[in-house]
Amino acid sequence: MDTQKEIIKVTSVYFEDTLDYQKLSKTTKAYKSILNTICEQDLDIEEGKKDIALGNGKALGTFWAALCLDDILRTRQFIRGINKAIEDQIKANKKQIHILYAGTGPFATLILPIIFKYKKETIKYTLLEVNPFTFKILQKVISKLGLEGYNIDLINDDATKFKIDPKNQPDIIISETMQNALAKEQQVPIFLNLMQQVSFDTIFIPEKIELHLGLKEAGIPTEALQIKHYNKIQKVLDISKASVFPKGQSKSQYDNKNHFQKIKTVIKNDTLKGFNQLVIITEIQVYKNITIGINNSGLTTPLFIQNIPEDTKGSVLIDTQYQISSEPKLEYKITLPNHA
Ligand SMILES: C[S@@+](CC[C@H](N)C(=O)[O-])C[C@H]1O[C@@H](n2cnc3c(N)ncnc32)[C@H](O)[C@@H]1O
Repeated sequence: MDTQKEIIKVTSVYFEDTLDYQKLSKTTKAYKSILNTICEQDLDIEEGKKDIALGNGKALGTFWAALCLDDILRTRQFIRGINKAIEDQIKANKKQIHILYAGTGPFATLILPIIFKYKKETIKYTLLEVNPFTFKILQKVISKLGLEGYNIDLINDDATKFKIDPKNQPDIIISETMQNALAKEQQVPIFLNLMQQVSFDTIFIPEKIELHLGLKEAGIPTEALQIKHYNKIQKVLDISKASVFPKGQSKSQYDNKNHFQKIKTVIKNDTLKGFNQLVIITEIQVYKNITIGINNSGLTTPLFIQNIPEDTKGSVLIDTQYQISSEPKLEYKITLPNHA
């Protein structure tokens, strides 16, 4: 069987509506094996493992970027979300859809299962990747897939600075360049840069990423933790086109470094009862009803930030503000009351 047909067959599981973890895990292994074979390069080498430190955060080394595929629910939900967004654009009678994929990794993992589903003339692709070693492998993978006649532009550039050609505006922009709590990597500066250059109806995938301060229930072993053991207290960040650049708002005043406001959260003593840890909770709306909930992926693992002693008397105060720097993160200052 040729590689195209193999990819279509193996990745068809991502498009099945029923979620079957065993099947998904088998698919992941098979998809990965095809990609590792066509790239003809061992990624588990020094050059492959080197992250790149940039002014707006780090870009993962090639080996690590390739591993993202193994976060199986993440991969499934992103592929489904992208596909649904394309279907919606087709229904809206778009003549040709332009997809910009920022941070492809070595395999353009999230888009390959989709490329073969649509006719060559339906979609044009701009694939953007900053890591030169990753980019070299991406070029090889694309050239080996027999995609002649497809409209694919490969660009080795930094998506936090990339200038979109106003005459070639994307309809869908994809980026999965994040970790839980939106720490370290460049999802936020990438989206801020791209959001201010496109019209309001451009679809961003993920559509929305939210951070909440939250509490984790006391006495639950880590392996037994479920969504119900977390209590969301206050939203502290919302990365979506609607919240970052509300319709009609001028984008010209935009200041990358000081974009996000400081938020004060007060957790009253009554609310703390039965909880022993303060956490940052990440939730992702990939597209419409396609979501990644708490703990469903490495991207949505709650991030521990503070123990709350059992005998705490009074309210806990937390100041938070998202900051973009060489290590982007939600910065916080926690004031615990005296405890007995
Ligand atoms: C988390 S990996 C994800 C890889 C792949 N998209 C996936 O979902 O499996 C993120 C990729 O984005 C690239 N990247 C990170 N920051 C970038 C930037 N500012 N511009 C372009 N690419 C970037 C990294 O080099 C890495 O290959």
